[in-house]
Amino acid sequence: MGRKPKNKKSPFRARFFGRHGQTKAVKKPVDDNTPKPEERKTKIKTPQLLRGMKDILPNEQKYWYYIINKAEALAWGYTFGRIDTPILESTDLFVRTIGKQTDIIEKEMFSFEDQGGDSVTLRPEGTASIARAFIEHGMINLPQPVKLFYCGPMFRYDRPQAGRQRQFHQVGFEVLGDASPVVDAQLVILAHNFCKELGLDVNAQINSIGCSTCRTEYKKELIEYFRSKRSSLCENCKRRLAKNPLRLLDCKEEGCVKIREEAPQLVDWLCEPCKNHFVKVLEYLDEAEVPYILNPYLVRGLDYYNRTAFEIWPADNIPEPEKKKEEEIKSEEKKEEEKEIAQPLRQNALGGGGRYDTLIYGLGGRDTPACGFAIGIERLILKIKEAGVEVDDPTKPQIFLAQLGETAKRKALVLFEELRRNNIRVAESFAKDSLRQQLEMANRLGVKLTLILGQKEVMDGTILIRDMEGGIQEVIDFNKTIEEIKKRLDI
Ligand code: HAM
Repeated sequence: MGRKPKNKKSPFRARFFGRHGQTKAVKKPVDDNTPKPEERKTKIKTPQLLRGMKDILPNEQKYWYYIINKAEALAWGYTFGRIDTPILESTDLFVRTIGKQTDIIEKEMFSFEDQGGDSVTLRPEGTASIARAFIEHGMINLPQPVKLFYCGPMFRYDRPQAGRQRQFHQVGFEVLGDASPVVDAQLVILAHNFCKELGLDVNAQINSIGCSTCRTEYKKELIEYFRSKRSSLCENCKRRLAKNPLRLLDCKEEGCVKIREEAPQLVDWLCEPCKNHFVKVLEYLDEAEVPYILNPYLVRGLDYYNRTAFEIWPADNIPEPEKKKEEEIKSEEKKEEEKEIAQPLRQNALGGGGRYDTLIYGLGGRDTPACGFAIGIERLILKIKEAGVEVDDPTKPQIFLAQLGETAKRKALVLFEELRRNNIRVAESFAKDSLRQQLEMANRLGVKLTLILGQKEVMDGTILIRDMEGGIQEVIDFNKTIEEIKKRLDI
């Protein structure tokens, strides 16, 4: 039912409007009892952001639109369907997939018991949830492969620094149900194109970590080699030697980096099918002319991978071995966080992924080979800023609508709606009466044009249009406002 027409004579309206429609003077509300800041006796502690978490303020949003729009355009272009899984999952899902001996499971999970007594975890990554969803929704019955795209927040309790947060966001692409090496290659191509189309110069680093058969033999060899150098290894690597020897290969400590130079390389231990798979992936990449660097030390920090493992790195990455001891690092944590924005993004991959052929089977699903990757949005933003990529702000107002006088304000209110319906982004400051203040505001917002509606213009059926750069003002027919704005904005 529509609203009743306004009855100007109703006693209710009459209480607020005089006989001629003017508003009555309204008494100011009586002051409440909230003490003024200077009268406060005790200082109130203001709540603060949790460490490693960030607010994404309006002036940052343009980067998010830019990246997510590009990711979506690529997802549709490569025919991926979007999937959104909950950020909270059973802890067991991540422990079983990412691996008990990994940093993520050992120390980075945001896990807690819910009211029902179940252990739940804020997802540290997306692939495990995708595998769960694949099984749970019987996606094996869909035409294979199933291509899924996702985008959203992830949580890892890590030491915050440039490009490393406790809540961060990923865009991810997963192809499930196809074992062919062309899938791996096409995912590397996609990841590369994504960064390139964002204006970033990147390289793909690639390796094969074989299958469980070739890895078993290789691990024995690797342990033997590192055992002979045990006393020179960092504390972390001494621990890894027993628990997760492959991770010794991607330690960033200077001493360990030196030792690994002589270490046996996994590619030399690949079984025939794994070797053939890897060669094919590289051939496809050569064919597509996507630059890659073979990195025999790339092993990834999650246990579910087999065969192809890859990472996307800024082309200008300068490896800088971490030299500081844990204690030193701890005391410097706060300072580091403050410097965070100014620091260039080093030693951080923008994205990574690989093949995970046994993950779905391991979770109780049918044997389903799969491959995928994820890219961190915060790291992309750091890099985009560092590279000076110009990013348009789709929310920035295009024009300003200024008004002078009560009648003009009312007419402007209606005109604003019409401009908005015509997809013109209009800023206004209807609460201000001073034209000077409104024009100042228009200047600060950096709009191209300002419309000015005053008493005289209302009477004449016109409106002023001011070019903010040149300061030239013209009178135009009020009824032609939209047409004129569209012409001048070229839309
Ligand atoms: P990941 O290498 O752990 O892989 O993470 C992928 C990307 O997420 C990283 O390259 C980085 O850009 C971003 N990232 C990770 N941790 C942080 C952090 N603490 N702060 C900021 N950004 C971060 C995975 O997560 C796998 N699920 C990728 C994958 C998909 N593998 C197969 N399919």
